[in-house]
Amino acid sequence: PNAEAFLRALPKCEHHMHIEGSLEPGLLFQLAKNNGVTLDPARYTSIAALEERYKNFTSLDDFLLYFNLAMAVLITEDDFEALTFAYMTRVHADGLVHAEIFFDPQAHVGRGISLSVVVAGISKGLEKAEAQFGITSKLIMCFVRHLPVESALESVESIMEYVKTGKVSGLGCDSTEKGNPPEKYKEVYQRARDLGMKHLTMHSGEEGPAAWVRTTVEELGITRIDHGVRSADDPEVLKLLVDRNAFLTVCPLSNVRLRVHTDVSESPIPKFMAAGVKFSINSDDPAYFGGYVLDNYLAVHKAFSFSKETWRGLAIDSVNGSWCDDDRKKEIL
Ligand code: HPA
Ligand code: ZN
Repeated sequence: PNAEAFLRALPKCEHHMHIEGSLEPGLLFQLAKNNGVTLDPARYTSIAALEERYKNFTSLDDFLLYFNLAMAVLITEDDFEALTFAYMTRVHADGLVHAEIFFDPQAHVGRGISLSVVVAGISKGLEKAEAQFGITSKLIMCFVRHLPVESALESVESIMEYVKTGKVSGLGCDSTEKGNPPEKYKEVYQRARDLGMKHLTMHSGEEGPAAWVRTTVEELGITRIDHGVRSADDPEVLKLLVDRNAFLTVCPLSNVRLRVHTDVSESPIPKFMAAGVKFSINSDDPAYFGGYVLDNYLAVHKAFSFSKETWRGLAIDSVNGSWCDDDRKKEIL
């Protein structure tokens, strides 16, 4: 309880949270009803049954099946606004001061929802949260690895009008890692750079090996790495991350739910600290993985019992690793 109040009060930033992954079972069923969407009755029986199923994911792909099915209930601009505002309200209570949020345009456009509806809804939720709670945010488009590179290129091109207006700030890459090594996406990131996109990140080293993190840094020139936990398998990769001043967005509860490790105590966080690799602690898909950002901080504390001084340092790292400008960082710190 003492640790909880302390960790809650620390000014924290989150950099790895998929807005579609904040769709709680309750809101999922409610939106299905409102929008007349029929969910697969074999999978969607009740809130309690769904929550149980979420405790038994066997892999990233097993989770992604549910993650992608649930999106069917997100139809209107209001749906995206409500989803986003619910997340921001929840993390405001966790002491979050700045959120960098992923969304998957291809997953929505591919089922007939226009990009303008998705971006407008999420943006409204973010603006309302900033006005009410003072939480700042950035929106990051991810392209998905389960679709062809050609589709990723189209998605990047179509997002540029929202980058120009400041509604979208960066590019990431998510979904199935196995069978999709980072070099496959060199062209996509190059296109984004050519079009003037400044902030780039990539899911790498979640289920894929440390060598793929190396490729992400050396060949793609990306130094923000989402997950990156498998880097800890190779001291040379850890050294590379330090040399390049890279930043990892680690998601401890996600890693347990998706069987990357069996327990948070197996997280390489202490190895990263010993090696001098900078990182933040994040929720990934809070509605699916058993907790929001503070729950992740608490799980790490339960596993490693860091001192207050250590926690202050980690929270400061989370601020410094953010894509907000220096004025905002100063204001937070
Ligand atoms: N990894 C890959 N894709 C994802 C994830 C993740 O952790 N969460 C949502 N999409
Ligand atoms: Zn993720």
